[in-house]
Amino acid sequence: MTETLVLEDPAGECARRLAAAASAGSHIALTGGSTPRIAYEQLATMDADWSGATLWFGDERCVPPDDERSNFGMAKEALLDRLADPGPTVHRMRGEAGPHAGADDYERELRTALGEETPRLDLVLLGLGSDGHAASLFPNAPALEVSDRVAVGVEEAGLEPYVPRISLTLPAINAARSVVFLVTGEGKAEAVARAFGGTDGTPDVPASLVRPHSGDLTLLLDPAAAGAL
Ligand code: 6PG
Repeated sequence: MTETLVLEDPAGECARRLAAAASAGSHIALTGGSTPRIAYEQLATMDADWSGATLWFGDERCVPPDDERSNFGMAKEALLDRLADPGPTVHRMRGEAGPHAGADDYERELRTALGEETPRLDLVLLGLGSDGHAASLFPNAPALEVSDRVAVGVEEAGLEPYVPRISLTLPAINAARSVVFLVTGEGKAEAVARAFGGTDGTPDVPASLVRPHSGDLTLLLDPAAAGAL
C-alpha cells in the first residue's frame, strides 16, 4: 500500500514519524543527501526516547566520517550530537574502508543484529535523486541485481558526489516494515512521477523498484515535488 502525502512541511511529518519510531525502540535506517537535514534538525528538538532505538544508514559515501560528503557526518551534526543520553545505538557504514570491505562489514552487522535471514528493518527513510535513484542504487546499476545480500559496494556513483558508495540492497529495503520517501522541490517532480506515477518498476528508475513486500510505502512530498504526479 502506497500512502502519498503532499504537505507544506513534509520534513516535519518525517521528523514526527522518526520520533515515534525511535520511542518504539525501532531499527531505523536514515538517508543521506541534503533533503533530510531539516527533518533531522527538527527531530533533535522533539521529545523522543532514543534509549531503545537503533540507527542504521541506507547508504554512505566512501569518505571519512568527518568529510563534508559523509552521510553519517551530516546526521551526526544535524541529529546525533544534539541528542541527550541515553541515545540510540548507531551502526555507521565504514565508508573509509572502501565499497566492498565496507559493505561486507555492514552485511555482517545487519545479519548479526537482525538475524541471518533477510534482516527486517522497521523503518527505512529514503531520498530520491533527480535520476530516480534511491540510497546508492543508481539507474541500471549492477547493484540492482543483487538478491543475496543486504549491503553492497557501489564502485561508480551515478550522481555527485562521484565517489564509491556502500548501499542497502533492494532486498534489504523491500523487507522493511515501513519505507518512507522524503522528497521536496520542483527539481524532483519528474523523478517522482517516473518512480511512483506508473505501475511497473524499471531499473531505469531504481526508486520504482522500492515496493516493500509486506510493509508500507509512504511518500512525503511537498507540492513542488508532487507537481507531475
Ligand atoms: C546520498 C543519498 C541519496 C539521496 C538522493 C537525494 O548518499 O546521496 O542517500 O540517495 O537521498 O541523492 O539527495 P538530495 O536530498 O541531496 O537531493
